[in-house]
Amino acid sequence: MTNPTSPLNERPLDMIIFGGGGDLAARKLLPALYMAHTHCNLPADTRILAIGRKDWTREDYLRNFMEEQARPFIDSKVFDAQSWDKFLALFDYVRVDVENPGDFQRLAQAARPGSQRVLYLSTSPELFVTICENLDGAGILDEHARVVLEKPLGHDLASARAINDAVGKHFKEEQIYRIDHYLGKETVQNLMVLRFGNAIFGPLWQAPYIKSVQITVSETVGVGSRAGFYDHTGALRDMVQNHLLQLLCIVAMEPPVSLDPDAVRDEKLKVLKSLRPMTVADIARDTVRGQYTAGAVGGEAVKGYLQEQNVPADSRAETFVALRAHLNNWRWANVPFFLRTGKRMQNRRSEIVIDFADLPFSIIPEGPRHYGNRLTITLQPEESIQLQMMAKEPGSGMHMQPVTLNLDLQQAMTQRRAEAYERLLIDVIRGRLTHFMRRDELEAAWTWVEPILNGWKELGDRPRGYTAGTFGPAASSALMARENLAWAEEA
Ligand code: BG6
Repeated sequence: MTNPTSPLNERPLDMIIFGGGGDLAARKLLPALYMAHTHCNLPADTRILAIGRKDWTREDYLRNFMEEQARPFIDSKVFDAQSWDKFLALFDYVRVDVENPGDFQRLAQAARPGSQRVLYLSTSPELFVTICENLDGAGILDEHARVVLEKPLGHDLASARAINDAVGKHFKEEQIYRIDHYLGKETVQNLMVLRFGNAIFGPLWQAPYIKSVQITVSETVGVGSRAGFYDHTGALRDMVQNHLLQLLCIVAMEPPVSLDPDAVRDEKLKVLKSLRPMTVADIARDTVRGQYTAGAVGGEAVKGYLQEQNVPADSRAETFVALRAHLNNWRWANVPFFLRTGKRMQNRRSEIVIDFADLPFSIIPEGPRHYGNRLTITLQPEESIQLQMMAKEPGSGMHMQPVTLNLDLQQAMTQRRAEAYERLLIDVIRGRLTHFMRRDELEAAWTWVEPILNGWKELGDRPRGYTAGTFGPAASSALMARENLAWAEEA
């Protein structure tokens, strides 16, 4: 399957945003489009059609939403009033109740004949099917149209399939852009370059030279105002099924034959398919669910999850997950992958830690034996790549000490780093699918995750409490300690 790449400026662009008055539009999409516009990455003839249910005029939308809700999310250091005015000039507002097919006629009239249409569905996924049907019914779709689907794409395998089937009736797979914003992060893309642009890691990137891999995405934020969504979602669906598994894919995949979308996605799919399914006994032993209780983050007292707004008092939703995964393939035989994510943790940090094997034999008698080579790839808050090496401590004896080779990417490359959404939106506009999930990837991820959700139910599992501002329940450390390993911050 080839990637239909349309050069910038080929056709006028109509960017149509469903959920144009929503939270994601305000926080991420519109600021990202503003930045793309400011840096001349939108086709010259672009229009942005914000779709919402409110009975607003264009002016109402610009004032009530763009100015008041979206603009505060643009970094004031880069904001420019003149460029903002030019950006606002691209907008139109179309009132559409997506459940009313008649309303789509208004949209059909607003879209320009022959335009390249990008339909961004930033709504609840329950509406995806209706929106696609009504778009088709109103004659808004053609073979050039592209649709962008926001997560959560399903609640389980069956619902993910149902969405894919329904959207697939109106769009071919190469017109569908399933967003996982982690794939748009500079550092995540850089991981591919680290692996496939440097010859030195290739031979070592496998068992038995790698002992274990840790992938952590820790957040300091709590559930905030999203309890309605989060409480029946939980951390496994919200973060592991997509972001963490995508990171795992990039760490573990075989070198793709090229950067073509399907070449990369074929390799990621193989990783997902090689995840060893977990039995109920595995789930009891190798997974830890947690829920934060009151504590302090960054010196500020914070509530426990059960005290948050709109959270049921007996909620069993997990706000933390740690688990040990295995890949059933030659490259990774017997190498545990530890995945961990949580809200209200001690710090905001996303990192991948690759622990290389111990020395087969040490001829250097003096010095701590437990040190090994460790590659730490930090995705956020700052991008960095560090390799821990052993060196001789100055002096007369032969003492080893770990020292860190530090790749300072911020200093080495001072170019502006675009936010994930900006980069991904530009990819959609240019028809680049490499950093979007293909249908089979999504379904393979659900195939592995769903039994864990069922296993927890079967085990009657309650999440373990952990104090906000810590690194999760003690059982998470025990998961590693069992194998004589430790999470990076505990080592
Ligand atoms: C989203 C989740 O997909 O990712 C949120 O729904 C989470 O719960 C967010 O906070 C984390 O993204 P980032 O880019 O801040 O690490």
